[in-house]
Amino acid sequence: MSFHTIRQAPARLNRSELAVPGSQPQLFEKAAKSDVDVIFLDLEDAVAPDEKDQARRNVITALNDLDWGAKTMSIRINGLDTHYMYRDVVDVVEACERLDLIMLPKVGTAADVYAVDMLVTQIEDAKGRSKRIGFEHIIETALGMQNVSEIAGASPRNESLHFGVADYAASTRARTTIIGGVNPDYAVLTDPLGDGTRAEHWGDMWHYALARMVVAARANGLRPIDGPFGDFQDPDGYRAAARRAAVLGCEGKWAIHPSQVALANEVMSPSAAEVDKANRILAAMAEAEAAGKGAVSLDGRLIDYASIRQAEVLVEKAKQIAA
Ligand code: GLV
Ligand code: MG
Repeated sequence: MSFHTIRQAPARLNRSELAVPGSQPQLFEKAAKSDVDVIFLDLEDAVAPDEKDQARRNVITALNDLDWGAKTMSIRINGLDTHYMYRDVVDVVEACERLDLIMLPKVGTAADVYAVDMLVTQIEDAKGRSKRIGFEHIIETALGMQNVSEIAGASPRNESLHFGVADYAASTRARTTIIGGVNPDYAVLTDPLGDGTRAEHWGDMWHYALARMVVAARANGLRPIDGPFGDFQDPDGYRAAARRAAVLGCEGKWAIHPSQVALANEVMSPSAAEVDKANRILAAMAEAEAAGKGAVSLDGRLIDYASIRQAEVLVEKAKQIAA
């Protein structure tokens, strides 16, 4: 291990994160009753410019008056290049003790994080807020991806990084079909096989971006979260995208429609078999320690310390879900 200790963000369940437009208060009640782990009430891209003020008022009322249960509540503020952003922060943070997180869209540099941190710190101090606001950052521009490591380490408020695939595609001018989906043009054509035919294997065009963000997040103790999948009529496509993200280390995925919440929770929760195996690994380790043995084995296989650490993480996650 490095001598450098990574400070871990507060442990929150973040398997699913539901986007709810602040301009559509008729959707709030249903979201509050859903099984989602985190909700972000959106003041940014789902809200038209002439609805920004009303959306902010809706969000303040809803955060104060609705019962959101134990969910983690966030707002997505407008970008730092707009004049809506300062009011999003000042008005909502001043008025809403229930708010847990602020989501910063299109973060480009560590200084963007610093600026919002300064503003939030002043409001917290002035208002004597007891609960400290955390930050979630959407990495969704070429600039943000270039500076992802500095952004990840820019504030002790940072909790998670989110891959905003739609804006990322726009910023990098990637050729996409549907938001977060795959593109048949991103494929490998094999050389001729034994029988002379050639096979085509589709690839995941988001692999590099997502993997890069995961590394920056984990190296700074943050949760990496995969962003939207646009076609909410394609649960299999959603599951496949979520599984790819989970395999790379993401802890959760956005839902842009309530029907995607269950899919995210399903893919991002460890299975009963995985939890069972993790528990057996930890039991085998405890047994080996009690017997003074250096090597731990289970089912005829040697267990190394990396597997033990993975088992600890998994069991901790299962406990959080059960709670
Ligand atoms: C999310 O904001 C995205 O652009 O994908
Ligand atoms: Mg976006």
